[in-house]
Amino acid sequence: MMIYDSKSGTFTLHTRRTTYQMQADGHGVLLHLYYGPRVGDGDLSYLLQYTDRGFSPNPSGSGADRIYSLDTLPQEYSTCGVGDYRLASAEVEQPDGSLLLDLRYASHEIRPGKYALEGLPAFFGREGWETLSILLRDPCSGIEAELLYGVCEEDDLITRAVRLTNRGDRPAALCRAMSLCLDFNRADLDLVTFDGGHVKERNLNRAALRPGVQSVGSLRGTSSHQHNPFVILCEQDAGEDHGLCYGAALLYSGNFLAAAERSQFDDTRLVMGIHPHHFRWTLAPGECFTAPEAALVCSPDGLTPMTHRFHRAIRQRLIRDPYQGKRRPVLINNWEATEFRFDADKLVSIAREGAELGMELFVMDDGWFGTRDDDCGGLGDWDVNEKKLPGGLEALVPRIQALGMGFGLWIEPEMVSERSELYRAHPDWALGAPGRPQAQGRSQLVLDFSRQEVRDHVYAAICRVLDSADVSYIKWDMNRSLSDVWSAALPAGRQGEVYHRYMLGVYDLLERLHRDYPGLLTEGCSGGGGRFDAGMLYYTPQIWCSDNTDAIDRLRIQCGTAFCYPVSAIGAHVSAVPNGQTRRAAPMETRGVVAMCGTFGYEMDLGRCTAEEKETVRAQVRTFKDRAALISQGDYYRLTDPFRDLTYTAWQHVSRDRREALVSLVTGSARAALPFIVLRLKGLDPALRYRIDGGERIYDGAALLHAGLSFPLIAGDYQARQLYLRAVEA
Ligand code: GLA
Repeated sequence: MMIYDSKSGTFTLHTRRTTYQMQADGHGVLLHLYYGPRVGDGDLSYLLQYTDRGFSPNPSGSGADRIYSLDTLPQEYSTCGVGDYRLASAEVEQPDGSLLLDLRYASHEIRPGKYALEGLPAFFGREGWETLSILLRDPCSGIEAELLYGVCEEDDLITRAVRLTNRGDRPAALCRAMSLCLDFNRADLDLVTFDGGHVKERNLNRAALRPGVQSVGSLRGTSSHQHNPFVILCEQDAGEDHGLCYGAALLYSGNFLAAAERSQFDDTRLVMGIHPHHFRWTLAPGECFTAPEAALVCSPDGLTPMTHRFHRAIRQRLIRDPYQGKRRPVLINNWEATEFRFDADKLVSIAREGAELGMELFVMDDGWFGTRDDDCGGLGDWDVNEKKLPGGLEALVPRIQALGMGFGLWIEPEMVSERSELYRAHPDWALGAPGRPQAQGRSQLVLDFSRQEVRDHVYAAICRVLDSADVSYIKWDMNRSLSDVWSAALPAGRQGEVYHRYMLGVYDLLERLHRDYPGLLTEGCSGGGGRFDAGMLYYTPQIWCSDNTDAIDRLRIQCGTAFCYPVSAIGAHVSAVPNGQTRRAAPMETRGVVAMCGTFGYEMDLGRCTAEEKETVRAQVRTFKDRAALISQGDYYRLTDPFRDLTYTAWQHVSRDRREALVSLVTGSARAALPFIVLRLKGLDPALRYRIDGGERIYDGAALLHAGLSFPLIAGDYQARQLYLRAVEA
């Protein structure tokens, strides 16, 4: 619900459990008043403190009123150069060369439904949404900022985006255009970020805010393995079930910045948006720049409800049909089994084993095209290598389908190898400045996706492949960080646009695929989880979470990922042991239990499994299919904190009606005299009674929640247990 009070100039946005309030004051400055647990509609401007503070200037129009300063008041979209020294939201280089911007309220509009952003990912839906648009204007230049707010009452979700327009008569340049600015009148908060690297993505890090700016971000051209565009600010004692938490996710897959500043007066500002480094966007008169969407969830009662709200909103309002709420096929991928060394018979034999064990989709990974026999060449030449696959996909796909399986394909559209026909024909299509040899990553160069003709060429090549056979899935990979970011299509003064134009180009192709191949399931990937963000999930309903398939390492990687992103989107497979990344040999049962907290599939040569292992696999596939709705549509609970202690890790999925639950437990490396394991379950209905794994004994819901469930001593390394609870009919 949105309420505008014209007398006080306050805008109040209510969701079911939270309230957000701002106010255009007498000077037209849009002040942020409150975001937190739901309160009434009353004007909260009594919270503001007007004090003469040394070295905090008084803006023009305030009549040199010493107690009025942009440097001390909470801002809704902070400006630059006119007296607020905290983190700026927008910076504009004006035609006269000044870096000054002073935004004041001009008008607003409230309308039903959710705004959309052209060319960018965004939450969607008519039902259950309202949009507020507030127009701010710089009185001295022609720059306007339209602040967009989407409010989804049911999911306690507030989205924000910004359109910056040049209404002047000379070009200006945007040097910074944040999507989100959120001020808090407190600094006793922890900042939680999700960090790591390739094969160790999204480890949780939590620390109290220190004076000054703390930030994470990416300058790699992707959202990156190293940091994630999702952060949390929370009370210092906040835990899973208590404490005030704010989650902020940026729907963007390129360079980003998330920065929190604890200021001199112990207030806090959080900004999030495209990283301003390497960003400079020329706005000709009349032109508009759209900053990507950011999504906010405030949870008054801990981290778990915050996670649930993001999961539900992403599943129902970001992931699009036909995969919204739809069970994804259990797949078998040949990558870890064969890498580049395969032929049609080998692929069919892997698929056959998979089909016999109940799998539904065979995915042919890297190495099927051009001269791609290793990772040094072939990218860009999307023609089937007939030496490996005589007769092309036309011959292979029917053989796979005859096994009762769907067929999926790996592609890496954004790249080109120097050793390729495409590079020989169009060397200037790769990013790179004239006269400067480019840096290579995995022996490949990056195509200039800011250019329409490059995208059109790649798209036509991909369509030829997709049209040659019945392909129901693609894995869209991206295997290096960007460097040498320079585009032949733009003049020297506009090279600061290339990173973002590249990202818009990637979104453009993904959107074309979504439009032209409506049933196609696309899995995102970037050397595993290098581009796992909410922006990508709009186009790819699932994303390969990490190139690290070790079940024990995955406990942390998947837990960190699932703080914001739903389990149904987290690509997770069982792979062979000893694991390629860690050389660890976790039991098959454990690998299955961990992969079930994701999309679930296999990535190994099943032909090498013993008969006993195959029976385990068969049972796992059956279990996953039986429990898929519970796992992917239910609520996910963390029962332990794997970032603190890996002695044992447990989590739980609970159906929305609370009648079903799946408890998963994985132990760490064996130790003598392990502590007793008692799990206090979560999310169950205290008034219901439950049966575990169809057993005789009946458990009281309240007792499982408060007294818990004990597990007999578990010996050995990396063991797993999975329990299925079902409510007993009254
Ligand atoms: C990346 C992906 C892997 C695999 C290889 C193929 O590393 O993350 O899953 O597809 O590329 O080259």
